[in-house]
Amino acid sequence: MMIPTHQKGKNKAQDFDDLDPVITYRHILQTNLGIKDPLRVVALCDSDAFYAACEMVRLGVTDKPLVVLQWEGIIAVNYPARKFGISRFHKLKDAKERCPELMIVHVATYKEGDAEPGYWDNVDSRTHKVSLDYYRRESSKVFSMFKEGLPDAEIEKASIDEAFIDFTKPVRQALLQRYPYLSQIPADAPNGVDTPLPPPPLIDWGTDSHLIPIYSNADSESTDEETSQSAPLTWHDIALRLAAEMMHKVRVDIATQLGYTTSAGIARNKFLAKLCASYRKPYSQTILRNQAIPCYLKPLEFQKIRFLGGKLGQALAKEYDVSTVADLLPVPLEEFQAKFGESAIWVYEILRGIDRSEVKEKSPVNKSMLAAKALQKPITKIDDGPHWIRVLAAELSLRLNDARKERPNLWPKTLALHAGHGYGTARSKQAPFPFTKEVTVNVIAAAGGKLWKELVGNVTGTIKVTYISLGFTGIEATDASQQSIASFLDSPAVTGVKRPNEEKNGKPSKSRHRNTQRVRSRPSSPSADQNTTSFTCLECHKTLSLSPKLLSTSDVLGQAYALAAMKDEHSDFHFAESVAREMEPEVKEVRGPHKKVKTPKIQEKEIGPRGIEKFFNRT
Ligand code: CTP
Ligand code: CA
Ligand code: CA
Repeated sequence: MMIPTHQKGKNKAQDFDDLDPVITYRHILQTNLGIKDPLRVVALCDSDAFYAACEMVRLGVTDKPLVVLQWEGIIAVNYPARKFGISRFHKLKDAKERCPELMIVHVATYKEGDAEPGYWDNVDSRTHKVSLDYYRRESSKVFSMFKEGLPDAEIEKASIDEAFIDFTKPVRQALLQRYPYLSQIPADAPNGVDTPLPPPPLIDWGTDSHLIPIYSNADSESTDEETSQSAPLTWHDIALRLAAEMMHKVRVDIATQLGYTTSAGIARNKFLAKLCASYRKPYSQTILRNQAIPCYLKPLEFQKIRFLGGKLGQALAKEYDVSTVADLLPVPLEEFQAKFGESAIWVYEILRGIDRSEVKEKSPVNKSMLAAKALQKPITKIDDGPHWIRVLAAELSLRLNDARKERPNLWPKTLALHAGHGYGTARSKQAPFPFTKEVTVNVIAAAGGKLWKELVGNVTGTIKVTYISLGFTGIEATDASQQSIASFLDSPAVTGVKRPNEEKNGKPSKSRHRNTQRVRSRPSSPSADQNTTSFTCLECHKTLSLSPKLLSTSDVLGQAYALAAMKDEHSDFHFAESVAREMEPEVKEVRGPHKKVKTPKIQEKEIGPRGIEKFFNRT
């Protein structure tokens, strides 16, 4: 291992020194310890080859090799097909050569005139639009099963096919139930509630989970997992074991009832849970005991760690000319901070398996919905706009009505239309959305069509639109009085143009588009379509676009991957920022309202997230 010369003689803090914290009666009896809880257990559960699995369920296929296609590119490969060496990065032709009996399914698409997306024989990106709605619905079913099966756990949907589950609460309940003596502080306990718990009982790790080896020389492929675990048991190990039982039960239920196999990682925090979830895919779960953390982390190539990929990882690799986590452990915190800014503390901690982020259930209501399409064949005639508006309206209608199945009173305040050429400034129009009971494709398409006319109606000469999107913003649950207004407005005598708020204020709008205005930026999108070439971040509302160079190529798949990488890197940036915010009072000060007055410019440049910021794509 390389040890940088400047490191010599320095007194380095002990790495991995909190793997076996003292656990006392207070820790088992107190319930609000948050991330400081030494009995904290978090899992990440991810569906195996998710889009491919959805198609297998839809088609009733059980074990045939299958890939999902989006235009020419493979976007999902099931495990039977992976046995032939097929991956997402293969061209369809190569995949077919590797496995002639390969089943190929193109994702559903919308075409004009249909309210629902469908599976067609001849799909064409020039006329159709990809629909991920079926996968979103299946994803909701899986998520609902997590919630039903684990009513006491905190669950955070992390992406279309994965969720973090904080087992700390149900595990504490199970511990007290299974070992009731833990709730009785012995009369002779020397420090009362702060007395350490008695030694834990011996447990059987069972057969439902893999265990990450504790010793680096244990070859996990050939060594019996149990024998690679000979470190003294702790109460945290028992907590992991109890979580594993609960996780396993839900996973089996999901597989039996929905037909989706999942893989889970179970550890002390989110970062580690995610890291070990794919240890033995598919259909498996893995426990990472605290004692196994160093051995698991040290040989990892740090650039493969999600948070340390991208430019930051490259900068670290270049700075130190090393590749593994172990290589970076000798670098002191102060040095990371001097080189990469104060908030580089999160790099230092992630390398040691420390992650202070919480599992937080997200709001069940998405405030906005965006349907977007990048057009290979630009719209050049005003009359060609309505085709795409209907296609986008179909997607919006389906998604809003899906959301309304859970919350019937959801209502979008605004409909916005954006049209652009390339990925420069988009021209936009938005207007209050008419308040009707049924949000049909026709209602949305009519409102969108009107916006289109306002947007391009007075354009003289030719138009060239290569990006078009239609989106709802300000989606909220209306109250009962507004719903009764909705049914009133839906009555045949009324045209259905009034907004509930305007009605309340006694100022009904004369025209549903009276407030139409131009806006400069695209609306925030919780999910942009796969084939767009830019995306808007929900958190900071920044729009990131692919480089003009990449856009000028016809490599649609390459563009999709580049966009996915940009999204990842951007969300890593927010992660870095949020960790910095949680942990760094100094950083907060620098970022605070007085920074412009009190912090000299030069310092502003060097301190705080800006140090990290430069390693992430922002525009
Ligand atoms: N996906 C995509 N484009 C990407 C990454 C993922 O379209 N750049 C889709 C995939 O089609 C996938 C789903 O998102 O089915 C979930 O992605 P992921 O969990 O990364 O892969 P899986 O296909 O589920 O495979 P695995 O079993 O390895 O998790
Ligand atoms: Ca997956
Ligand atoms: Ca995933």
